Parts: sequence; structure tokens; C-alpha cells
Amino acid sequence: MPQTMHPREGAPAPARTGGRRASIRVEPLTCTIGAELFGVNLGEASRDDDLFTQIKELLLRYKVLFLRDQDISRAEHVAFAARFGPLEDHPVAGSDPAHPGLVRIYKDLDSKPEHYENALHCDATWRAAPPMGAVLRCVETPEVGGDTIWVNMAEAYRRLPEHIKAQVAGLRARHSIEATFGAAMAAEQRHELKARFPDPEHPVVRTHPETGEEILFVNAFTTHFVNYHTPENVRFGQDYAPGAGNLLNYLISQAAVPEYQVRWRWEKNSVAIWDNRSTQHYAVQDYWPAVRKMERAGIVGDATF
Ligand code: SIN
Repeated sequence: MPQTMHPREGAPAPARTGGRRASIRVEPLTCTIGAELFGVNLGEASRDDDLFTQIKELLLRYKVLFLRDQDISRAEHVAFAARFGPLEDHPVAGSDPAHPGLVRIYKDLDSKPEHYENALHCDATWRAAPPMGAVLRCVETPEVGGDTIWVNMAEAYRRLPEHIKAQVAGLRARHSIEATFGAAMAAEQRHELKARFPDPEHPVVRTHPETGEEILFVNAFTTHFVNYHTPENVRFGQDYAPGAGNLLNYLISQAAVPEYQVRWRWEKNSVAIWDNRSTQHYAVQDYWPAVRKMERAGIVGDATF
């Protein structure tokens, strides 16, 4: 199992990872994040331990894996994702009734453009245990547009200035479904949502439970630091709001640095598998009124401590 492995260390060039039964061709897509896999069928990987193990190792290394031409059934899609761990539904986005855990992200003519995805985020950090990852398959895509961007948040942390690393060590932040998915709801519905998902607190720098990497763990769901207001940071009360707000905005803005990103152009039956602990993503909302249909199996994650 790779430990704190960085794509640059091992694989700028196309590589093959060979198991006893399968050989996967791996082509990194950037120097920082993402690789495309060739010679793999995820339906087969849902049934083959050795193939699944190879894919999981590659996922820890590249953080997001891409495959084309995955003409697999919904049952195979959820079976493959469930090899990583139990799946979970989304309290706001609907799932396929026949396949619990398979969330439908369908944007069609009835969708209002303002309801499209449009913020860099790590999935569901409003959960006490945010998802470990997800497997997203494209069912229908616009002729052009609707790409998705992923960001390597371990790299975003690694390249922070040292004085910022010192300042954020030990900081913790609250994340909110109420302030995001709940914001457009009537107050009663919003309060009910918040009662089901009370705003959790996560470390600003999270340690990856499998690779040991340190990860910058704030995103569009993060509302505020919970332990910034100390004598080291705040001389007078007047310092608190600009100091905390500016620092949080700066940290959140790091996901927008192109050097940490990969951008993927979808085709029907393309699949992305991502490690949600060490990445953020953004579905580009440039295609309305074209239709875009994606199905996402989200995998339950660990508490962040
Ligand atoms: C998501 O935000 O999980 C979905 C990304 C996409 O639709 O490309």
C-alpha cells in the first residue's frame, strides 16, 4: 500500500500495474492529480479481489481515477463502489429507488441554472464522518461543457507558506448543511435538516487515515473556525472577524489554484472514482439548457477527529 505517495514520485510516465490476473495501463493526467486507467472493466472489478485491490492502491496514489467506456449496469456500479465500504444516500438529492446509495445528479430543462453545481467542495463535510469517496458515472452529457474539476488538497496543504501552516496547526472549523443545502429552504424545513445533521467540527488540517498525508480540509461547506479566538490571534475583539474571515477565505481559495487541479471531459459511460478525503471537486455549470445526467455512489467515510 503506498504511503504518502505523490504522483511525481512514482509515475509521471505511463505505467502498468500487473496483478496475477489483470494488467492495468495507467496514464497520469497531470503532475499533481488524476490518472486514466485502460484495460479495466468495473463490472469485472466488482467481482475480482485482485483487480479491486490494484484500483484501490492507484486511487490512494492518484486521488482520482478516470475510465471510459464503462457500459456497466447500475447493479455493477453500486457493487463496485460498495467494495470500498457501505454506501450512503443524500438527504437532499434523490437516489435511484432500485439501487439505494446511487444518487441521481440529473440536470435537465426543468432544472433551474442557479441550482446547478457551482462551488469547489469536498462531498458532505456536513456529516460527522464525511464520505470516503465516490464513484460517478456519466449517463448523458452535453455535446460540449459540463466538465468536472478535481483538486489535490494534500498538495494544497504541502505548498502553503510555512507561517500559514504554523497558524492553522490545531485550528478546527465547523461545516454546515444548513448554510448550504438548507439556505433556500423555508425555516422549518431548514431547522429539521439541521436537527438531522448538526453542524460538525473538523480539523482544518486532516490526516489521511490510509496514506498519512496532511490535507487542507476546508471547503464551501465550512462556515467558521471554532478555536481562532485566542490571545495569539486576537489582541482586541476588533481583530477577530477580519482575522478569522480572511484566513478562512484564503484557505478555501487554495482549491482554485490550477496547479493542484485536473479537469475531465465526460463522455457517456465515463467514470470517475475519487478519494473524497484528499480532494475537492467542481462540476462546471456552463451547459444549460443542455441535459447532463450523472449517477454517483457515495461511500461512507471515517470520523475526522
Ligand atoms: C458531485 O459534486 O459529487 C458531482 C460532480 C459532477 O456531477 O460532476
